[in-house]
Amino acid sequence: MKDGFGREINYLRLSLTDRCNLRCVYCMPMQGLTFVPGAELLTAEELEKVVCAAVDVGFNKVRLTGGEPTLRQDVVDIVRRLARIEGVDQLVMTTNGYRLPYIAQDLAAAGLKRVNIHVDSLNKDGLAKIMRLGSFDKAWAGIEAAEKAGLTPIKLNAVITRDYNDSAAVELARLTLEKSWQIRFIELMPFAGPTEIQLENYVSSDEVKSWIEAELGPLFPINEGKLDGEARVYRLAGSLGTIGFISPVSNPYCDDCNRMRLTADGRLRMCLLTEGELDFRQTLRSGGNHRDLVALFERAIQAKPVGHSLRSGLFAENRTMSQIGG
Ligand code: GTP
Ligand code: 5AD
Ligand code: SF4
Repeated sequence: MKDGFGREINYLRLSLTDRCNLRCVYCMPMQGLTFVPGAELLTAEELEKVVCAAVDVGFNKVRLTGGEPTLRQDVVDIVRRLARIEGVDQLVMTTNGYRLPYIAQDLAAAGLKRVNIHVDSLNKDGLAKIMRLGSFDKAWAGIEAAEKAGLTPIKLNAVITRDYNDSAAVELARLTLEKSWQIRFIELMPFAGPTEIQLENYVSSDEVKSWIEAELGPLFPINEGKLDGEARVYRLAGSLGTIGFISPVSNPYCDDCNRMRLTADGRLRMCLLTEGELDFRQTLRSGGNHRDLVALFERAIQAKPVGHSLRSGLFAENRTMSQIGG
């Protein structure tokens, strides 16, 4: 289904929980957090109802996010329920990977197709500086488990943040010389909430690209420079993998946006960086049926804003990234 600006909306991101076992500096504060109480999270059955309605209005790609989605005890059950819905062509997940050594095989058997794994550095101390409770060994074990379970092609996400992990960009890019993964650099987005990151920590994709080219040689565009999802993708000469840049701040891709997000507490957020939301949980828990959910999706698609206003210094203040799922 097309929105008011002619964009085909087909990609639904479901946040399964706002909790996370890590505390990345740009995403969550170390202390003073409050989480959505368990009873207010959508249940597996409610998520199934939401996705059944979503496919009826044209969604065909579903990504499970968090916080950290694998912290939901029923994550394998959720995958199983969503994978069998006719019309869900791609069921995928974004995770920090820590629990994958225990559940990657079960997730794959339940119908998950692939994972994007978040890792900001390849160096033990460097990783702990930005991912605070993170451990490189655990992240790496997760990546290996995903590969073994066939949750491929694997994409690794890194947010390069000045004074925290600037030096990691080149190490991460170098990995593509020997691994067939896609390493994607995501520009830091300003968000409300008490994270310790400020605007001066932002690094543009162009700057990261120039550091990589200075060390490792030219980056050649793939796809004739066209966007792959929201990433612009390149490769180094002789590499097995590729390097993507996601540039919501320096080069917004709102004109091609195809997605919406359901927050952990059941609100449909029409744009990551704009505050408007519609309450699906309320509809679900007040006796709403399939038709009501379909109607709510139709309303949401019509109400999707044209894009964000970061360039004018306006950003959403009502949620942190960990509540929306990126
Ligand atoms: P693929 O399906 O592999 O293309 O994954 P994806 O890029 O859609 O999902 P992933 O969770 O890996 O997203 C990477 C990050 O890109 C997100 O966490 C956000 O930080 C950023 N991002 C994704 N979509 C949007 C968007 O619509 N707007 C903005 N501003 N940023 C986005
Ligand atoms: N800016 C950009 N990306 C962020 N993420 C979390 N917080 C931010 C932020 N402030 C990204 C992480 C993860 C994804 C789900 O969200 O890199 O890969
Ligand atoms: Fe957790 Fe992901 Fe946020 Fe890091 S970015 S704290 S791994 S939800």
